[in-house]
Amino acid sequence: MQPRIGDAAASPILVTGGTGTLGRLVVAGLRDAGRDVRVLSRGRRQGGEDLGEGATGIEFVTGDLATGEGIEAAVDGTEIIVHCAGGAKGDEDKARHLVRAASRAGAHHLVYISVVGDDRIPIASGVDRAMFGYFGSKLAAERIVADSGVPWTTLHATQFYDLTLMTAQQIAKLPVIPIPAGFRFQPIDAGEVAARLVELALGTPAGLVPDMAGPRVYKMADLLRGYLRAVGKRRPIIPVWLPGKAARAFRAGANLAPDRAVGRRTWEDFLAERVSSLGESSQAAA
Ligand SMILES: NC(=O)c1ccc[n+]([C@@H]2O[C@H](COP(=O)([O-])OP(=O)(O)OC[C@H]3O[C@@H](n4cnc5c(N)ncnc54)[C@H](OP(=O)(O)O)[C@@H]3O)[C@@H](O)[C@H]2O)c1
Repeated sequence: MQPRIGDAAASPILVTGGTGTLGRLVVAGLRDAGRDVRVLSRGRRQGGEDLGEGATGIEFVTGDLATGEGIEAAVDGTEIIVHCAGGAKGDEDKARHLVRAASRAGAHHLVYISVVGDDRIPIASGVDRAMFGYFGSKLAAERIVADSGVPWTTLHATQFYDLTLMTAQQIAKLPVIPIPAGFRFQPIDAGEVAARLVELALGTPAGLVPDMAGPRVYKMADLLRGYLRAVGKRRPIIPVWLPGKAARAFRAGANLAPDRAVGRRTWEDFLAERVSSLGESSQAAA
């Protein structure tokens, strides 16, 4: 059945990045809420079946937010857009292409996911940009969304456990692990962030809503030690002093939101479940 324009409950909700860590959980949450979903991705990824590809209520469209190709068709007939597509670079260009198409299509609500601290981490030099340019991109993208003329809601979240785990897995391959001195993190479960985005998408546009951060603040070394313990590895951890204003802001805790520690699942809970399901065992050789 064709969506009826003007009846938001009948039109599919566009989820950009609906194949990603966060986006696929948002897609599942919207389906659970009884909404039809359109997933935008640059190409069909292997494993799309677990998103329900071919199942009723989920439609896949191909487009590239970095170039704008395919985006007008992706937004056509949608009134609510949840923008979860993102990467290490260029999120402002992706936002620009999306809001242009969304505005032309008369979208009613654009929900954006950004990152805690992007408005407190200065990108003042090439050194800052090389290491922390992501935060500058997210802030620029937020401003593009806010100035788009499309009614919007933006949520800041801290790092997801999945990213923390992936980082730990990568750096634990080194015999000695260098970490930025004085950095702390307050990671959160992506499922909890996805549930909040679903709630926001189904509500009215709310502008910048309160941050979402995990239940505990950890020194980076402690996050890493938790992982090493869970997989039975031992590695020396060497703190390295990072230069620049952005690194200084990190050391001062600009990436944290201790007064918004609303996440419930802990890093330890996440590790206990994920490490065993990945087949990484506490008996693994050090
Ligand atoms: N990860 C974190 O810790 C964290 C914390 C706070 C906020 N966020 C924000 O949350 C969002 C989702 O993060 P994530 O960790 O779920 O990302 P992810 O797993 O890396 O997924 C990124 C998604 O973006 C899509 N995408 C990337 N470039 C695209 C492009 N040019 N055109 C269309 N789609 C594109 C990818 O789709 P295809 O590859 O299928 O095209 C994929 O679905 C991002 O905006 C990120 O900045 C993340």
